[in-house]
Amino acid sequence: MKFFKSTTAPFCIVLMFVALVGSVVASAGSVNTDDPAALPPLTQEELDEMDVGVLFKARGAEEVYAYCAACHSERIVSQQGLTRDDWIELFEWMVDEQGMEEIEEPDLTLVLNYLEKNYGPDRPNFPGKKK
Ligand code: HEC
Repeated sequence: MKFFKSTTAPFCIVLMFVALVGSVVASAGSVNTDDPAALPPLTQEELDEMDVGVLFKARGAEEVYAYCAACHSERIVSQQGLTRDDWIELFEWMVDEQGMEEIEEPDLTLVLNYLEKNYGPDRPNFPGKKK
Protein backbone atom coordinates (compact mmCIF):
# COMPACT_ATOMS: atom_id res chain seq x y z
CA MET A 1 0.00 0.00 0.00
CA LYS A 2 2.93 2.29 0.59
CA PHE A 3 3.65 2.15 -3.11
CA PHE A 4 0.10 3.23 -3.87
CA LYS A 5 0.27 6.22 -1.54
CA SER A 6 3.48 7.58 -2.95
CA THR A 7 2.18 7.39 -6.50
CA THR A 8 -1.17 9.12 -5.90
CA ALA A 9 0.38 12.47 -4.95
CA PRO A 10 2.28 12.98 -8.21
CA PHE A 11 -0.75 11.68 -10.06
CA CYS A 12 -2.91 14.39 -8.43
CA ILE A 13 -0.39 17.04 -9.36
CA VAL A 14 -0.47 15.85 -12.96
CA LEU A 15 -4.28 15.96 -12.91
CA MET A 16 -4.28 19.50 -11.52
CA PHE A 17 -1.79 20.55 -14.16
CA VAL A 18 -3.91 19.06 -16.92
CA ALA A 19 -6.99 20.85 -15.55
CA LEU A 20 -5.09 24.15 -15.36
CA VAL A 21 -3.71 23.90 -18.89
CA GLY A 22 -7.15 22.83 -20.09
CA SER A 23 -8.83 25.89 -18.63
CA VAL A 24 -6.19 28.22 -20.03
CA VAL A 25 -6.61 26.70 -23.49
CA ALA A 26 -10.40 26.90 -23.16
CA SER A 27 -10.34 30.56 -22.17
CA ALA A 28 -7.87 31.43 -24.94
CA GLY A 29 -10.26 29.78 -27.38
CA SER A 30 -13.23 31.76 -26.16
CA VAL A 31 -11.42 35.08 -26.65
CA ASN A 32 -11.43 34.40 -30.36
CA THR A 33 -15.03 35.42 -30.92
CA ASP A 34 -14.57 37.43 -34.07
CA ASP A 35 -14.71 34.96 -36.92
CA PRO A 36 -13.05 36.59 -39.98
CA ALA A 37 -15.47 34.73 -42.24
CA ALA A 38 -18.36 36.51 -40.50
CA LEU A 39 -16.97 40.00 -41.21
CA PRO A 40 -18.94 42.05 -43.73
CA PRO A 41 -17.39 42.45 -47.20
CA LEU A 42 -15.18 45.49 -47.66
CA THR A 43 -16.61 48.40 -49.61
CA GLN A 44 -15.05 49.40 -52.93
CA GLU A 45 -13.76 52.54 -51.24
CA GLU A 46 -12.05 50.56 -48.52
CA LEU A 47 -10.49 48.32 -51.17
CA ASP A 48 -9.33 51.31 -53.22
CA GLU A 49 -7.70 52.90 -50.19
CA MET A 50 -5.71 49.83 -49.24
CA ASP A 51 -1.96 50.29 -49.36
CA VAL A 52 -0.74 46.73 -49.76
CA GLY A 53 1.85 46.88 -52.53
CA VAL A 54 1.39 44.15 -55.10
CA LEU A 55 -0.89 42.09 -52.85
CA PHE A 56 -4.38 41.34 -54.12
CA LYS A 57 -6.78 43.75 -52.40
CA ALA A 58 -9.17 41.84 -50.19
CA ARG A 59 -9.88 41.35 -46.51
CA GLY A 60 -6.69 40.20 -44.82
CA ALA A 61 -4.35 41.90 -47.30
CA GLU A 62 -3.51 44.72 -44.87
CA GLU A 63 -2.70 42.24 -42.13
CA VAL A 64 -0.49 40.16 -44.45
CA TYR A 65 1.25 43.33 -45.58
CA ALA A 66 1.81 44.49 -41.99
CA TYR A 67 3.08 41.15 -40.73
CA CYS A 68 5.06 39.95 -43.69
CA ALA A 69 6.42 43.03 -45.42
CA ALA A 70 8.06 44.08 -42.15
CA CYS A 71 11.10 41.98 -43.10
CA HIS A 72 10.95 41.46 -46.84
CA SER A 73 9.05 42.54 -49.91
CA GLU A 74 5.44 41.42 -50.10
CA ARG A 75 6.41 40.12 -53.55
CA ILE A 76 8.07 37.14 -51.86
CA VAL A 77 4.64 36.32 -50.46
CA SER A 78 2.75 37.01 -53.69
CA GLN A 79 5.04 34.77 -55.71
CA GLN A 80 4.11 31.74 -53.64
CA GLY A 81 1.18 29.46 -54.29
CA LEU A 82 0.63 27.22 -51.29
CA THR A 83 -2.09 25.20 -49.65
CA ARG A 84 -3.30 26.30 -46.22
CA ASP A 85 -1.21 23.58 -44.56
CA ASP A 86 1.88 24.65 -46.47
CA TRP A 87 1.32 28.26 -45.43
CA ILE A 88 1.07 27.11 -41.82
CA GLU A 89 4.31 25.19 -42.25
CA LEU A 90 5.96 28.23 -43.82
CA PHE A 91 4.86 30.37 -40.86
CA GLU A 92 6.47 27.86 -38.50
CA TRP A 93 9.69 28.05 -40.47
CA MET A 94 9.46 31.85 -40.47
CA VAL A 95 9.07 31.84 -36.69
CA ASP A 96 11.68 29.16 -35.93
CA GLU A 97 14.36 30.15 -38.41
CA GLN A 98 13.74 33.74 -39.48
CA GLY A 99 12.73 35.37 -36.21
CA MET A 100 9.12 36.18 -37.08
CA GLU A 101 6.80 36.85 -34.13
CA GLU A 102 4.10 34.25 -33.92
CA ILE A 103 0.82 35.59 -35.30
CA GLU A 104 -1.99 35.40 -32.74
CA GLU A 105 -5.66 34.75 -33.32
CA PRO A 106 -7.87 36.15 -34.72
CA ASP A 107 -5.28 37.60 -37.11
CA LEU A 108 -3.82 34.17 -37.80
CA THR A 109 -7.10 32.89 -39.21
CA LEU A 110 -7.62 36.10 -41.15
CA VAL A 111 -4.16 35.92 -42.70
CA LEU A 112 -4.43 32.20 -43.50
CA ASN A 113 -7.89 32.63 -45.04
CA TYR A 114 -6.52 35.37 -47.23
CA LEU A 115 -3.42 33.47 -48.33
CA GLU A 116 -5.29 30.23 -48.94
CA LYS A 117 -7.86 31.99 -51.09
CA ASN A 118 -5.63 34.39 -52.99
CA TYR A 119 -2.25 32.67 -53.01
CA GLY A 120 -3.15 29.02 -53.30
CA PRO A 121 -1.51 26.40 -55.55
CA ASP A 122 -3.25 27.76 -58.66
CA ARG A 123 -1.71 31.18 -57.93
CA PRO A 124 -4.73 33.21 -59.02
CA ASN A 125 -2.98 36.48 -58.15
CA PHE A 126 0.57 35.75 -59.27
CA PRO A 127 2.15 39.16 -60.07
CA GLY A 128 1.83 40.02 -63.72
CA LYS A 129 -0.60 37.20 -64.44
CA LYS A 130 -3.33 38.18 -66.90
CA LYS A 131 -6.72 38.05 -65.24
C1 HEC B 1 11.28 38.58 -38.86
C2 HEC B 1 11.40 38.72 -40.26
C3 HEC B 1 10.39 38.04 -41.16
C4 HEC B 1 9.02 38.15 -41.10
C5 HEC B 1 8.17 38.96 -40.15
C6 HEC B 1 8.53 37.36 -42.22
N1 HEC B 1 9.55 36.80 -42.90
FE1 HEC B 1 9.39 35.66 -44.58
N2 HEC B 1 11.41 35.52 -44.68
C7 HEC B 1 12.31 36.11 -43.81
C8 HEC B 1 13.65 35.85 -44.25
C9 HEC B 1 14.92 36.33 -43.56
C10 HEC B 1 13.54 35.11 -45.44
C11 HEC B 1 14.66 34.61 -46.35
C12 HEC B 1 15.12 33.27 -45.87
C13 HEC B 1 16.14 32.69 -46.78
O1 HEC B 1 15.94 32.76 -47.99
O2 HEC B 1 17.13 32.16 -46.26
C14 HEC B 1 12.12 34.92 -45.69
C15 HEC B 1 11.61 34.24 -46.77
C16 HEC B 1 10.27 34.09 -47.05
C17 HEC B 1 9.72 33.37 -48.18
C18 HEC B 1 10.51 32.68 -49.27
C19 HEC B 1 10.63 31.24 -48.91
C20 HEC B 1 11.46 30.51 -49.92
O3 HEC B 1 11.10 29.39 -50.23
O4 HEC B 1 12.46 31.07 -50.36
C21 HEC B 1 8.37 33.43 -48.10
C22 HEC B 1 7.35 32.83 -49.02
C23 HEC B 1 8.07 34.19 -46.90
N3 HEC B 1 9.24 34.58 -46.30
C24 HEC B 1 6.80 34.47 -46.47
C25 HEC B 1 6.49 35.21 -45.34
C26 HEC B 1 5.15 35.49 -44.91
C27 HEC B 1 3.89 34.99 -45.60
C28 HEC B 1 5.25 36.26 -43.80
C29 HEC B 1 4.12 36.82 -42.96
C30 HEC B 1 3.23 35.90 -42.38
C31 HEC B 1 6.67 36.47 -43.54
N4 HEC B 1 7.39 35.81 -44.50
C32 HEC B 1 7.18 37.22 -42.50
C33 HEC B 1 11.98 36.84 -42.67
C34 HEC B 1 10.72 37.19 -42.28
